[in-house]
Amino acid sequence: MAMYVPPTQRREKSPHLPFGDMRQTPFYGKDILSVSQFGRENLEYVFGVAEEMRSMVEHVGTFDLLKGKILANLFYEPSTRTSSSFMAAMQRLGGSVIPINEVRYSSVAKGESLPDTVRTLESYADVIVIRHPDVGSAAIAALYARKPVINAGDGVGEHPTQALLDLFTIREELGRTENLTVTMLGDLKYGRTVHSLSRLLAQFQTKLHCVSPDILRMPPELVSELKIQGMSIQEHTTLDEVLPDTDVLYVTRVQKERFEDQAVYESVKGAFVVTPDTLKLAKDQMIVMHPLPRVGEIAMDVDTDPRAAYFRQMEYGLYIRMALLAMVLGKA
Ligand code: NCD
Repeated sequence: MAMYVPPTQRREKSPHLPFGDMRQTPFYGKDILSVSQFGRENLEYVFGVAEEMRSMVEHVGTFDLLKGKILANLFYEPSTRTSSSFMAAMQRLGGSVIPINEVRYSSVAKGESLPDTVRTLESYADVIVIRHPDVGSAAIAALYARKPVINAGDGVGEHPTQALLDLFTIREELGRTENLTVTMLGDLKYGRTVHSLSRLLAQFQTKLHCVSPDILRMPPELVSELKIQGMSIQEHTTLDEVLPDTDVLYVTRVQKERFEDQAVYESVKGAFVVTPDTLKLAKDQMIVMHPLPRVGEIAMDVDTDPRAAYFRQMEYGLYIRMALLAMVLGKA
C-alpha cells in the first residue's frame, strides 16, 4: 500500500504543464540557489526578460504581471540593496511583500528553526527570498519548501542574483560578455559575489586577474575549479601591473563580519583604495563595478568618472530581480 503523504508535504515544484502553457519557462516553479543553474542559453533568456522589464519600468513604471502574488523576503543578515530591490521588483510587478528584515523581531529570536520558518512563510507567500549567514542555508530552505526559494546570499557561499545582475551590467555597459579581461580587487576569500561572478564568467573566455592581500586570496578550490573549466586566471598582490589591460574592475569590500580576529581585519581593511589617480592607468572604455556597500575602497571622487558603473549596476539589479520573480512564478 502506498504511504500516505499529507497534502502539505507534496512538493509542487516544477509541475508538468500542458504544451503552450505560459508557465513553461526554464525556471517556472524552480529554486534559484546557485549560478551553476545558468548556462549560456538560460543567461540569454534571463537578460532578454530583464531588458523587457527595463523597458516596461521606463514606460509604465508599475504593471500587473504578478498581481495577487506574494513574496516573503527573509533576511537573517543585513541588506539594503538586495532586500529593497527584491521588494521594489515585486511591487513594480503588482505583487506584494512580507518583509522580514529583522529576524530578531520574528520567531527566529525564540529559537525557531529555518525549516519551520520557511514552512510558515510559504503558507502565506508564493515565493521566498532568503539571505542567511550559513553556506548551504538556501538549499536547506529549498529542501523544506514547496514554493520557489531564491538565494540572496548564503554566508561566504554564493550570491547568484548579484552575479546575474553583475553580468547583465557588463553586457549592457560594454555591449558584450565574451573575451573580456576582468580584474577582481579586494576580499576575494570571503566575498561571495566574486565567487558567483567568477563562475559565470568562466563560460565567456574571460581572462581573470585576482588582486588581493595574501590572506584574502580567492579560495584555492575555486581557483582550481575555474582553471579546470579552462579559465585563464592569475593572482596578484598589486593592481598597477594589470589595470591597463582591464575591461572590468570589480572592487569589493573587506568582509569585516567574516573575520574571527578583528585585529586581522584592521590590518587589511585599507589595503586597496581606488582613486581618480588610480584610474589614470585604466582604459577609457573600462568600467568600475562594486556590489556595494563600499567602506572606503573606492574614493567618492571617483563617482563622477563616467567609468564608475556601480550606481547604474544597482538599477540593473532591479530588472534582473523582476525577471527572476516573473520567471519562477511562470509569468515570463
Ligand atoms: C554584497 C553581499 O551582501 O554579499 N552586497 C550586496 O548584496 N549588494 C557585498 C557586500 O556585502 O560586501
